[in-house]
Amino acid sequence: MTPHIEAEIGDIAKYVLIPGDPNRATYIANKYLEEARLVNKVRGELAYTGKYKGVEVTVFSSGMGIGSMGIYSHELFDVYDVNAIIRIGTAGAYKEELKPYTIIIADSSYSDTNFDLESGSEDIEIINSSFELNNIINMTANIRRIDVITGRVYTTDAFYTDRRNYDYFINKGCIATEMETYALLYNAKKFHKMASSILTISDNLITHEEMSSEERERRLDDMIVLALDSIIKLEK
Ligand code: HPA
Repeated sequence: MTPHIEAEIGDIAKYVLIPGDPNRATYIANKYLEEARLVNKVRGELAYTGKYKGVEVTVFSSGMGIGSMGIYSHELFDVYDVNAIIRIGTAGAYKEELKPYTIIIADSSYSDTNFDLESGSEDIEIINSSFELNNIINMTANIRRIDVITGRVYTTDAFYTDRRNYDYFINKGCIATEMETYALLYNAKKFHKMASSILTISDNLITHEEMSSEERERRLDDMIVLALDSIIKLEK
């Protein structure tokens, strides 16, 4: 149906969770969705559509980076007319107190990428998440007693970087770094849709603490449930 997605229009729900990793999409579909069916496997990016608490939801892996997230979020909003996307992923923290497993809700993304220039002939440093969606996520976190920190993330083009002067990004208001949120929020703005990112801290760039593999799954479950319980609240 698009150069990158084989799903038919009706195969993608109006509400989409978008992890980076296809294996995580499979994990979420198996554990949380009823009647989940595989609707995309082009290039190994897996998408499943099923029901969560009676509401149709799609889980779709974005792959890594602004480029890949830019393609999938564009096609999901523009061609499949998706209403809302929540990215669920990991981030590296710039603040000592943000320990591994801390859950961050991105209220905005800063990036010096050229994605905005290429995609929309404009130069925007900071893009906000959906205020409405973030309110719902915060409310849901409260109800479920999941601790969250809200803040800005730096969306970088390069995972392996020589830019170790984190003060530059901290002065831009960023509390953590990752690689996809800017493209998602940019496309939501472009197509007048809703988007946000919920991120779990996987590593702290100041203290060098990291997630342990044993606890990774259970801790990521808090973020997944928070995203699922939030996105279905958009269904009126
Ligand atoms: N840099 C970029 N992306 C990331 C990081 C990081 O340190 N940790 C998790 N995603």
